Amino acid sequence: MKVAVVGATGMVGEVMLKVLAERNFPVTELIPVASERSVGKKITYKEHDYSVVGLETAVSMRPDIALFSAGGETSLEWAPKFAEAGTTVVDNSSAWRMDPSKKLVVPEINANELTKDDKIIANPNCSTIQLVMALAPLHDAYKMKRVVVSTYQSVSGTGVKAVRQLENEIAGVDGEMAYPYPIGRNALPHCDVFQDNGYTKEEMKLAKEPQKILNDRTFSVSATAVRIPTAGGHSESVNVEFENDFDLADVRKLLSQTPGVVVQDNTDTNTYPMPIYAHDKDEVFVGRIRRDETQPNTLNMWIVADNLRKGAATNTIQIAEYLIENELV
Ligand SMILES: NC(=O)c1ccc[n+]([C@@H]2O[C@H](COP(=O)([O-])OP(=O)(O)OC[C@H]3O[C@@H](n4cnc5c(N)ncnc54)[C@H](OP(=O)(O)O)[C@@H]3O)[C@@H](O)[C@H]2O)c1
Repeated sequence: MKVAVVGATGMVGEVMLKVLAERNFPVTELIPVASERSVGKKITYKEHDYSVVGLETAVSMRPDIALFSAGGETSLEWAPKFAEAGTTVVDNSSAWRMDPSKKLVVPEINANELTKDDKIIANPNCSTIQLVMALAPLHDAYKMKRVVVSTYQSVSGTGVKAVRQLENEIAGVDGEMAYPYPIGRNALPHCDVFQDNGYTKEEMKLAKEPQKILNDRTFSVSATAVRIPTAGGHSESVNVEFENDFDLADVRKLLSQTPGVVVQDNTDTNTYPMPIYAHDKDEVFVGRIRRDETQPNTLNMWIVADNLRKGAATNTIQIAEYLIENELV
């Protein structure tokens, strides 16, 4: 496979290269792509050096697959150009996620919707992916009515500039700000931009994307997204009301049998998911599983995953693997 990685110099792009190599993805030719500022820059993949090229050059090389993580505007403009050249694009930005003509895919849940005609495929938002990984098996078993989620998101979810802001603050150095306020020793109830309804764009992604992925609009999601000073790994406090009652032991069993989900739940040993534990792992970790004692059929849990891996790079590459395994590219 001739594989273009668009945004290869960014946070997600770098992890993409790492995950491609780790999983031995069948790359016969790698095309690292970034902005004009980075053209000619060297990146290393499997001990070989490659020169970064611009988007125009990359399209003309007609890759089989292009893995995009270079922001929404780049995707909106360039994904169709790659698709026209015959490339299948898997896009990490929010550009195509809610487009009714594009599939929004978490491979463990709905990869079977993909066909050869899908030339631009959307990867969900990082906080959505870890949420639906835990919700999907529970929805099948007990049917969700309403989900209330509060996120505790790391600065790597914003990109290179935000990681630098946190590092500068820790080192006591003045530098460029990615956020309107300091992030060290702080919590910002503000992920992405505010919308007219008072929610942020991130919160609305969490409200809408799960319905599309689970192909069900009968449940609702209400979200509050908060940025905290962790370098990597997003955490979520999740309250789910079901139509049907559940047994806590069955919930734990169901989640532990779900591919890609790991249950870490033992209060006797202080065992629960944490960003430092999820770091550099592909699984979604679930713990603090308990009944909401204030109303019937309602569950509380805590979900953590590495936002750059399952939340971005790994999920994208799993989609690409599915396309290859099923001869859809
Ligand atoms: N961080 C996460 O947890 C996460 C999770 C899921 C999805 N995403 C999405 O993935 C995308 C990238 O995020 P990131 O965190 O990796 O950001 P980042 O660290 O800021 O990297 C951005 C990448 O995009 C490239 N780029 C920027 N403008 C470009 C242009 N006009 N043409 C070509 N390449 C361009 C940059 O190249 P230069 O180095 O040349 O500037 C760089 O390689 C965003 O759409 C984001 O929403 C991020």
